[in-house]
Amino acid sequence: MASSIQLCAATTILCILGGIGWQKFCKARSQWMEDLELLGRPRKQKLHGTAVVCGGSIAGTVTARILADHFEHVVLVDPELEDMEKPKTRIVQYNAVHVYLSLFVNGARKLWPNFDSEFLAVTGRLVPADSGIRYSGVRVINPDHDFPSGSFPESLVIRRSTSQKVLSRLLIQHPTSANITIIPGTIRGFEATSDVTSIQSVTVRKLDGTEAVLNDVAMVADCTGTTQAGLKWLRKAGFSLPENIRRSYDANLRYTTLNFTVPAELEAKLPIPESARNTILAYGNLEHFAYGARSYGLMVTDNNTMQLILCNTDDNLPRVASDVVPWLTSIRFHAEVPTWFLETIEIICEQGEPWFDHIRIAPQSYIQYHKAPARTLPSNFVAIGDANMQLNPVHGQGFAKILLSGIALNTLLLKTDPKASNLPTDFPARYFKTSAAYSQGLWDSTRLHDYGDVNCEPMEGETTDTGRFVRWFEAKLISAATQDAEVASAVWHVRHIFRADKLLLAPTVLWKVLWARPRF
Ligand SMILES: Cc1cc2nc3c(=O)[nH]c(=O)nc-3n(C[C@H](O)[C@H](O)[C@H](O)COP(=O)(O)OP(=O)(O)OC[C@H]3O[C@@H](n4cnc5c(N)ncnc54)[C@H](O)[C@@H]3O)c2cc1C
Ligand SMILES: *[C@@H]1O[C@H](CO)[C@@H](O)[C@H](O)[C@H]1NC(C)=O
Ligand SMILES: *[C@@H]1O[C@H](CO)[C@@H](O)[C@H](O)[C@H]1NC(C)=O
Ligand SMILES: *[C@@H]1O[C@H](CO)[C@@H](O)[C@H](O)[C@H]1NC(C)=O
Repeated sequence: MASSIQLCAATTILCILGGIGWQKFCKARSQWMEDLELLGRPRKQKLHGTAVVCGGSIAGTVTARILADHFEHVVLVDPELEDMEKPKTRIVQYNAVHVYLSLFVNGARKLWPNFDSEFLAVTGRLVPADSGIRYSGVRVINPDHDFPSGSFPESLVIRRSTSQKVLSRLLIQHPTSANITIIPGTIRGFEATSDVTSIQSVTVRKLDGTEAVLNDVAMVADCTGTTQAGLKWLRKAGFSLPENIRRSYDANLRYTTLNFTVPAELEAKLPIPESARNTILAYGNLEHFAYGARSYGLMVTDNNTMQLILCNTDDNLPRVASDVVPWLTSIRFHAEVPTWFLETIEIICEQGEPWFDHIRIAPQSYIQYHKAPARTLPSNFVAIGDANMQLNPVHGQGFAKILLSGIALNTLLLKTDPKASNLPTDFPARYFKTSAAYSQGLWDSTRLHDYGDVNCEPMEGETTDTGRFVRWFEAKLISAATQDAEVASAVWHVRHIFRADKLLLAPTVLWKVLWARPRF
């Protein structure tokens, strides 16, 4: 009897100590937030040679900027870089609403100290990083209490078409651009070294049709977005990567963006409350996934414009302005949609010269380079952005994910010996391992969430039943985040990619999630 009491007491103490350790582990700052501080510091002794960046959109711009801190020379290749101010034609989401998570803003500020002033100059807005999203009409608590007044992390509100131009401008304005060569053209492929351990040269077709070969490349970064061309080029050059290295599922997403011209006189007529102008989306709503996959959001964007995003996994999105309000009001939520929102949409649909952009989003995909067997990847290859992982965009993580990988790359390069003539053979393995560890949670949580929808076609080897427990937990989590400040804070930190999702499993958070009153 006494011994069983002792055993029980000992177990309890162990559980408490274990619990404290677990709590600490879950609440620990993430490594990438530590390493974010190391971004944007040019090293004194540069690494030898030329780094080639394939693709000059968001990932290409961020990567070129980071690599210019490390390599003697950087070459950035993209067919649409001849005139940086010209609208892009190869980026399907160029006109879609974009949310910029705080991690992106924080990281880009390290890379470009004049980030804020350049964005403000084109009438972009910096607002507290409160998404303005309702979950089935219900607002999740924003963790204002976590930050002293006025210090809430910021987000940027701007059309993507504008942000893309400003990022290109920032790249060429920065002092490191002295060592960046921009080649307007298309990468055609790679040539391997004779022992097939690294990439020897890269072939470019310039806009005038002539071909150029970039020799002795120190590093090649695949930033080709949706095309994910790097994998194809590697295989053609003789690197034998496993057949199933690219995984994909199809959430069957349709997006319609409406853009509006809203001059000051029209804007003055709109009943948008001041508080709504101070959040990322003035108003947004996600349907509870047990009922459907519809979502929408209104953004007050730069230069007298507004954008409204409508999404679904069925092809029934409005095609004419008069169908927009009926579509919005056809969705049943757990709380009322405010009348100011519907009135605003009605007015701008009539008077704001609405322009429609419909897109069918390509399947979600992930090239799991970190699973490539040792030494099958060239020692000087990395992939960043959609070229590596393409997520369901509804959570607005694309730009921030580029920063996550950029941070991993920068930290690893800082540890690289400038005296060595080549990168170490395990360089890509180490880069992809860290990058995957940082972003795996994004891939898993968005995918398993999407499996809850009837129109979703799962990844090979999985079914729509996969992740049932995760979806059950997610529903509980959202319920709790509408009621409890600590849970809401954890959800916010994970959503803005300041913390890994293990934060949601901290005992003090977990028990509140499990005991929360169901709200939906
Ligand atoms: C509808 C939609 C909405 C989204 N909303 C958000 C959001 O709210 N927030 C967010 O953060 N993210 C969002 N995203 C995701 C985000 O847009 C992407 O993650 C981001 O654009 C990826 O940038 P990237 O540079 O990797 O690729 P891309 O922007 O696709 O650019 C790829 C570049 O590679 C170039 N290229 C291709 N092939 C070659 C070649 N052979 N040679 C040279 N260049 C080449 C192309 O010309 C292009 O410039 C959204 C995506 C979609 C589809
Ligand atoms: C705003 O838009 C107008 C009309 O399209 C354009 O002429 C002007 O240059 C833009 N202003 C800024 C700051 O981008
Ligand atoms: C450009 O490269 C040269 C040679 O590596 C280096 O000395 C110089 O500091 C670099 N310039 C910038 C602005 O990084
Ligand atoms: C809406 O998008 C179209 C197509 O890109 C563009 O020509 C137009 O200028 C945009 N208008 C606004 C108000 O953003």
